[in-house]
Amino acid sequence: MGKHILILEGDGIGPEIVAEARKVLDVVNSKYTLGLSFEEGLMGGSSIDEHGVPLTDETLERARKADAILLGAVGGPKWDKLDRAIRPEKGLLKIRSQLGLYANLRPALLYPQLVDASSLKPEVVSGLDILIVRELAGGIYFGEPRGIRVLENGEREGFNTYKYSESEIIRIGRTAFEMARKRNHKVCSVDKANVLEATMLWREVLDTLSAEYPDVELSHMYVDNAAMQLVRAPKQFDVLVTGNMFGDILSDAAAMLTGSIGMLPSASLDKDGRGMYEPCHGSAPDIAGKGIANPLATILSVSMMLRYSLGLPDIADAIEVAVGNVLDQGLRTADIYTEGTIRVSTSQMGDAVIAALTA
Ligand code: NAI
Ligand code: MG
Repeated sequence: MGKHILILEGDGIGPEIVAEARKVLDVVNSKYTLGLSFEEGLMGGSSIDEHGVPLTDETLERARKADAILLGAVGGPKWDKLDRAIRPEKGLLKIRSQLGLYANLRPALLYPQLVDASSLKPEVVSGLDILIVRELAGGIYFGEPRGIRVLENGEREGFNTYKYSESEIIRIGRTAFEMARKRNHKVCSVDKANVLEATMLWREVLDTLSAEYPDVELSHMYVDNAAMQLVRAPKQFDVLVTGNMFGDILSDAAAMLTGSIGMLPSASLDKDGRGMYEPCHGSAPDIAGKGIANPLATILSVSMMLRYSLGLPDIADAIEVAVGNVLDQGLRTADIYTEGTIRVSTSQMGDAVIAALTA
């Protein structure tokens, strides 16, 4: 039986970029007779407007049953004033934790055609191809206790808990080592083991685990240095593995090395390789509804879906080749436009990828 995909467009530019990714899915579905089936659901602000919560239990159940989920992005100023418990982002955190999506893969790959769009010098970034493996279901974003409390002297104090268990460290460590095996056999683990006990354990557990992967070289780096090295000499890295919060920050920094966050896909996987696929960027309310958003991050997320959850690496490759082909033609959405290239809209970009795929 064909695989089943749940599509959550989300808010802001979500519907615009997902529409283009869906066109690509439809084309490969019929071209290669994959038998994929699709259903749509609401998440984030659109779900709050309709149901009062960012993710209903019913949608969560449908997500559980799907083989893969394609998500646009959630959030926007319309919902910013809401109580934290029902903000759009809560939907994201809920689906990640409830589905056990602990391994977030965020490749930062600079397409050679976009060297000029990067904020760094060409010699620093050309050929850049690194993979950030971020732990997504634990760490300080989920740690209890947490909250804002009133101290005896009457002043308020905010607090969160940074913790990782050995089993949590081992499972994300395995993901990083396995990924490195398919790449350049190098893993750099990022922590703050000079200050945070939770990351001292992180470092120790990864050192022990590395004995099982003698073909992969493991190194360690403090997060402040890693931030510096990412902009100084990013090509020294192959796979970076880190906890939830450090990974959130470093992967956004890495995103900018590649020119635009509009180019970067991501995968969030569970232990069986089922996953949710989404662009690294948010709902970009500043450009929503204008038809100028870059759909390539979402289209490349579809490629990751085919590779990691649907077992179709050849078709994943074909999509990536088509994206390269479109960039070769000089087609650019506004975020990656440089002088001498051809500016196109969101849907023109999607159409160009499809033309390249079916040529
Ligand atoms: P953002 O990623 O939405 O936008 C940052 C900047 O990048 C904006 O100038 C935007 O126009 C641009 N941009 C983003 N995606 C683009 C694309 N595909 N093509 C062209 N330009 C693009 O981050 P921001 O502004 O911090 O957040 C906006 C909303 O998105 C907030 O409500 C935030 O909470 C939410 N958000 C949601 C995420 C998700 O759904 N996974 C992740 C990050 C933010
Ligand atoms: Mg982020």
